Amino acid sequence: AMRVVSGIQPTGGLHLGNLLGAILRWVRMQDEAECLFFLADLHSLSEHMDPAERRSSVREMAAALIASGIDPAKSILFAQSAVPAHAELCWILNGTARMGWLSRMTQWKDKAGKDREGKSVALFDYPVLQAADILLYQATHVPVGEDQKQHIELTRDIALKFNNDFETELFVVPEPFIGGGTAARVMSLRDGSSKMSKSDPSDMSRINLTDSDDTIAQKIRKAKTDPEPLPDNEAALEGRSEAKNLVGIYAAVTGESVDQVLQRFAGQGFGSFKPALADALIALLSPLRTRLEQFRKDPAELDRLLAEGAARASAMGAPTLAEAYRAVGLAH
Ligand code: TYM
Repeated sequence: AMRVVSGIQPTGGLHLGNLLGAILRWVRMQDEAECLFFLADLHSLSEHMDPAERRSSVREMAAALIASGIDPAKSILFAQSAVPAHAELCWILNGTARMGWLSRMTQWKDKAGKDREGKSVALFDYPVLQAADILLYQATHVPVGEDQKQHIELTRDIALKFNNDFETELFVVPEPFIGGGTAARVMSLRDGSSKMSKSDPSDMSRINLTDSDDTIAQKIRKAKTDPEPLPDNEAALEGRSEAKNLVGIYAAVTGESVDQVLQRFAGQGFGSFKPALADALIALLSPLRTRLEQFRKDPAELDRLLAEGAARASAMGAPTLAEAYRAVGLAH
């Protein structure tokens, strides 16, 4: 059977990259598989944050996921920190993961930059906790954007080494499940060579779930482009990263292929393409935003749903955690 596990850091709200690369795909998988989705609040400890803000960000992201179509009646939705087994299994896997493996993670290298000495141990160990998130539930598929692929490959390495070292078949070796097409890597609206991200200091670089229709239209109007008209096929977009990104977003939002979109807009400039893109984005996001505003009004209900999800996730992960303790000789 297919078991789907994925998570999102709760900090900073949902943006279009998260939605297209991950969340809207999670929504579709709910009807095909047993799904666990969580708010990676333990992962957020890798960077300093005001505790009150961390607390409220969990609810805010839970509301955003439900507004986007994650249905707590179909999927198990919870906060990572409410299931202590994640942290416990992480510690067990710390005995298996190698310093060299973690040192090669591009996310670590990007985030640490020149200041490795000043970074938290949690930032370095981040991918081992991510491996624990996945292996705890015997996930077969992990739907993520392209940027998480390396972490899922590391998870596979950890699972294989643990199984081998302790002569067990405990861990299922999971598959990264990355969307085809242009949704897997949505780029910044200001720079076609860096990914759309919540940590970009410029809010103009991304579309947020909370942006008003006017803001969406304005961000698309101001998005970086080039002066050339659009070509009639995808290959001809090579080397035009900003143009490629906008057309890719349009295709991902409408469910068309890049070539289909280009055939419609071939020969036209961004003056006519951008308003069409803004309309498509507003049609997608505006109903989600309205739903988000409704769910936000009932924090007690959100807390109840998350508590229920945590209880179900704990029960589901307990046998694997117990078996992991036993495999390393810590039966209790
Ligand atoms: P996070 O919170 O950065 O992002 C959540 C999901 O959104 C995807 N994503 C993107 N996809 C396409 N284009 C983009 N510009 C873009 N930006 C983000 C991410 O690939 C991700 O799927 N480490 C994870 C959270 C995590 C996790 C896990 C994921 C913790 N444990 C276990 C899967 C399984 C993260 O920081 O995602």
